[in-house]
Amino acid sequence: MTDLMNIQTIQEHPMGKTMITTGRGGTGKSTFSALCVRHLGDSPLLIDADPDQSLAALLGVDLAAENINSISDVLYKLQQPDAFSELGTMPLVHKMEYLVNLSCLYESEQFDLLTLGVKWTRGCYCQPNNTLQNIASSLAEGYRYTLLDAPAGLEHVNRRIMTRADDVFVLIDPSAKALRNAQRLTEIADTIGMTIGNLYLVGNYRFTEETEQSMEPVEGATYLGRVAHDEAVQTYDWEGRSLLELPKDSPAVLSVAAILQKAGYEVRQPVE
Ligand SMILES: Nc1ncnc2c1ncn2[C@@H]1O[C@H](COP(=O)(O)OP(=O)(O)O)[C@@H](O)[C@H]1O
Ligand SMILES: [Mg+2]
Repeated sequence: MTDLMNIQTIQEHPMGKTMITTGRGGTGKSTFSALCVRHLGDSPLLIDADPDQSLAALLGVDLAAENINSISDVLYKLQQPDAFSELGTMPLVHKMEYLVNLSCLYESEQFDLLTLGVKWTRGCYCQPNNTLQNIASSLAEGYRYTLLDAPAGLEHVNRRIMTRADDVFVLIDPSAKALRNAQRLTEIADTIGMTIGNLYLVGNYRFTEETEQSMEPVEGATYLGRVAHDEAVQTYDWEGRSLLELPKDSPAVLSVAAILQKAGYEVRQPVE
């Protein structure tokens, strides 16, 4: 029975939807990603590729206390002599797959979370990168939504973990630089080897109606609206409370619902 149910779940999401949130540091991408979780439902798979690794905290999870490793921790340990000797002569690919499943995936009712980590340094990591892409894409098949929280640029992200995204949400602050970055992303998708379905621009919490009106359009990208400035987001962040507990009528929550709706998502709490 269980096997049959698993098969059905996988068939329901033969190609789950892959989403990427990107933008410069401090634009609000992790906050946006965390707020997406409550709207998408269906316990999405989140992948935190942002170097500041704040997604877990924004969702009220202490990964260290939960004994969850980042993927780079595991890769780093794998490079050490005699590491995981209990796994014997198992090929690296299988060791990685085993260790990622065993120690890197945080699972809960509302979302699952993988953290990439930052210790990705010396040597050629082509093999781990390819392996990781395979692990991530086969893992993603079990989910209706996979959402990657990624730094601006995406060049490093795609080599390591994901080469295809249905929807990319670029968080922009009201600056010419942010728009140039977004424009650059529309131009370089091919050269970084990434297939992107839709490229969306999202005004961050510093956007105002005036900024929206004076904003130059970015060719190849669709503007979806802005995330409302919300004091409660900052208070929750400061107090270490999960953004999933924000009141359902809080401005940030409502604005992210409207943004997702505009991108064609069925949200759990539709707005007019
Ligand atoms: N809608 C919002 N209203 C008010 N403050 C926000 C909002 N979104 C993000 N912030 C604040 O901006 C800062 C950066 O947000 P964060 O999501 O961590 O950005 P990033 O992941 O892009 O670095 C945090 O202090 C956060 O509380
Ligand atoms: Mg972040």
